[in-house]
Amino acid sequence: MKLVREIPDSDSQEEWLARERAHLSQVLYRYTPLVIDRAQGSYLYTVEGRRYLDFASGIAVTNLGHGHPVVIEAAKAQLDKVVHTSVVAHHQPAIQLAERIAALAPGKLEKVFFANSGAEAVEGAIKLARYTTGRSALIAFQGAFHGRTYGALSLTASKSYYRERYEPFLPGVYHVPYPYPYRNPTGPGDEATLEYVFNFIDEMLDTRVPPKNVAAFIVEPVLGEGGYVVPPSGFMPRLRKLCDEHGILLIADEVQSGYGRTGKMFACEHSGVVPDIMTLAKSIASGLPLSAVVATSKLMDQWEPAAHGSTFGGNPVSCAAGIATLDVFKADGIIQNSASKGAELTRRLRDLQQRMPAIGEVRGLGLMIGVELVKKDGTPDKELQKQIRKVCLDSGMVVLSCGAHDNVLRLVPPLNLSQAELDEGWEILNGAFQEVAA
Ligand SMILES: Cc1ncc(COP(=O)(O)O)c(C=O)c1O
Repeated sequence: MKLVREIPDSDSQEEWLARERAHLSQVLYRYTPLVIDRAQGSYLYTVEGRRYLDFASGIAVTNLGHGHPVVIEAAKAQLDKVVHTSVVAHHQPAIQLAERIAALAPGKLEKVFFANSGAEAVEGAIKLARYTTGRSALIAFQGAFHGRTYGALSLTASKSYYRERYEPFLPGVYHVPYPYPYRNPTGPGDEATLEYVFNFIDEMLDTRVPPKNVAAFIVEPVLGEGGYVVPPSGFMPRLRKLCDEHGILLIADEVQSGYGRTGKMFACEHSGVVPDIMTLAKSIASGLPLSAVVATSKLMDQWEPAAHGSTFGGNPVSCAAGIATLDVFKADGIIQNSASKGAELTRRLRDLQQRMPAIGEVRGLGLMIGVELVKKDGTPDKELQKQIRKVCLDSGMVVLSCGAHDNVLRLVPPLNLSQAELDEGWEILNGAFQEVAA
């Protein structure tokens, strides 16, 4: 029998990391070497007792900050009642949360399938699209991130190393350019960008995949991992129209952009476009694992019982946390705060941009903000991104990056960020720019 060695706990981050290296797979990349002991509100606390302002929110998950008391209370109460039923029985929290999501979702998106992660929601969405249309082809966008499972990864095209050594992918997946005005190959400006993208799509539908074979387009209404790119306002309506002309479903992946991140409940609301299917995950249970495929009754009612399923999906504790999350959204004016604090942070960054040629573009909606860093010749500057993030970390603040060339600073603070926390974050960020980019 193998004896388990007693390993005394330690307060040293280095010792914990050494133990991690021995027994946790290195494949899970981490942005920082921080070993977290606890977290509260907008702050993380390490095992060494250091405090960090969190402008990452667990990658857009803890939108209400860490450990929001209302959410924790609801989860604890549910733990005492029932933790798991799976498909053996029905439970109240899933029904109540589905009702709440249906009431908030745009248009007639009124039925929900719960899963655990964003990738699983994407898998569910594409299965639903293929199942109900009887068509196989799926069209995704370059720069998209939809997850790491095989179906989702087949759609993902934000960094090629996510796909390295994993071919072959799901057949029937096609990629088209995402409208990215700052780096549009036929010139900047919204019109030129949309012309480029839709010409590409039209030509693809003429030459490579007939529209009648296409089950769905899947799109992030604001590109996440691919660089926090906000598309021109005409993009989503034009895509919706194209889908309608050909009987193609439109899947909006709101895993990152949903739940108030962009200053509206769902990013789709900025354009008024209603998708046929919407995927949600990340923040919907404030950090407990939960995701959702939300669709019209027309589609969901064609998905026959047991055609899809999950053991853990929509577990009662996550759903209870999900209901409490929506209670807090309403009671605390979370969406308004995201919009106003986001506008303020963006304004300060744009002011800074006037004095910093290294800032190519500041973009975003609400508190989903990207800062594209460039060299003198306009090419992506990944090194600068790394330096700024390091200075921020050394100064007690966690900031992320994104983009195909990893040259975009990704600012994702909690949506209930206070003015004092915004000022503190700004001071550190501005200081980092002055130190390495001035
Ligand atoms: C838009 C989008 N879709 C899907 C996913 C995958 O989510 P998960 O990591 O929970 O599988 C992500 C994760 O970052 C995402 O940003």
